[in-house]
Amino acid sequence: MLLAKLNHEENIILQKAVSLATQLGVNIYLVGGTFRDVLLNQTGFDLDLVVEGNALNFAKILNLDLLGVIKIHENFLSAKISFTNLSLDVHTARKEVYQYYGALPKIEQGSIIDDLYRRDFTVNAIALDLKNNTIIDPFGGQKDLNNRLLRTLHKDSFKEDPTRIIRAARYASRLEFDLESITKSKLLEVVSYIDFVSASRLKNEYIKIINEDKHYKILQLLNEWGVLPYFLPGIYGESLNITNEKHINLKGSNNERISVWLVNLMVLYWQGAINIKDIHKVRFNFTNKELSCIEWLVENYYFLKHLQKNDFKASLLELHQLLYNTPRETDFFLLWLLRGKSNFYFQDIKNARQKIKLPLNGRDLLKLGIKPGPVMGKIITDLKRQVLVGKINSKDDAVTWLKRMMNDYVNQLDS
Ligand code: CTP
Repeated sequence: MLLAKLNHEENIILQKAVSLATQLGVNIYLVGGTFRDVLLNQTGFDLDLVVEGNALNFAKILNLDLLGVIKIHENFLSAKISFTNLSLDVHTARKEVYQYYGALPKIEQGSIIDDLYRRDFTVNAIALDLKNNTIIDPFGGQKDLNNRLLRTLHKDSFKEDPTRIIRAARYASRLEFDLESITKSKLLEVVSYIDFVSASRLKNEYIKIINEDKHYKILQLLNEWGVLPYFLPGIYGESLNITNEKHINLKGSNNERISVWLVNLMVLYWQGAINIKDIHKVRFNFTNKELSCIEWLVENYYFLKHLQKNDFKASLLELHQLLYNTPRETDFFLLWLLRGKSNFYFQDIKNARQKIKLPLNGRDLLKLGIKPGPVMGKIITDLKRQVLVGKINSKDDAVTWLKRMMNDYVNQLDS
């Protein structure tokens, strides 16, 4: 009855996992967000299993039957089996020891109770014993679920893992839960511990936020709790206006390869920072591609501001120069920036993106008597513009145009 919310495919996987656990004589549990959502009567989740025993062997044997794509994480004693529209995490029941605040924990094999005790909130620390069909709830998670409360399991929880501060905002807004009062005061005491979290973990948390439907609400909560200076330095609460939500949300765009979170980060700093350069303070361990987007935003700030003005329409050449050699994310930022301009369309950006093949190269220009220098530079820029707007289509067109223009260029050089 409890698992009636799971679909047929998920039920089959669980049946196979239970019969393997029986064969191998190990206990197996449905845990974490999956079981929390089952209890909340929600649908559409990935499966999260804990095995009291070696989960790596268990997952490998199970996958001989399931035939998914398996990925083993030796360090975490866990495995992930992925199918087209579903994934299954299999963990070894474990104890965790934090060597210093914000670090990843040291892991040892343990019991299901140890495993539940290492978790962030009581509502995530409930397990279903799949062999006996009984609920294991040592920390009162079901009661908190009914009262819609997020409560940590012990007083040092946020200190040990400050990413839980950010997770709390995510769950509070997604599930529409409140923070239990002691939990909230403990959280508020240690927001500065986010400084101890590694850059890559912080970045992952940001990506998870952006993947949520109510990401603006999450950022607003983090602002209310005073977390933003440690997480997104330079962002000010007043600018996190809920009405911006629809503009920032690029989810559903059919270009799957762009990093939606990066576009969102650029938009967030555009709107929410008094000084755009504060985006340089974000500690996310950016890749070179990500960094080049951020530098692009800062370097082109004044031109982008100008572009936003109602009475200004950039030429294709200006757009071409703006987007020259930049990652695709900059296109999406521009689309967002210019969303209110009716005369500006996706096609313009696409056209500006095309590689311009000039009908005359430097050598041709030399043959025509033009020496390297500022005039040649000006001719090449003008030639690009003519090609972009479709006025020059061939080498002959270009030579005719150049002969006509030559006097102008010579005069410009003289003056
Ligand atoms: N967890 C934790 N502390 C963390 C990260 C994870 O205690 N910093 C525990 C929680 O019990 C959580 C489980 O690990 O339920 C799995 O984590 P994750 O996959 O991040 O979250 P889900 O529970 O799957 O929740 P959701 O997918 O709904 O965000």
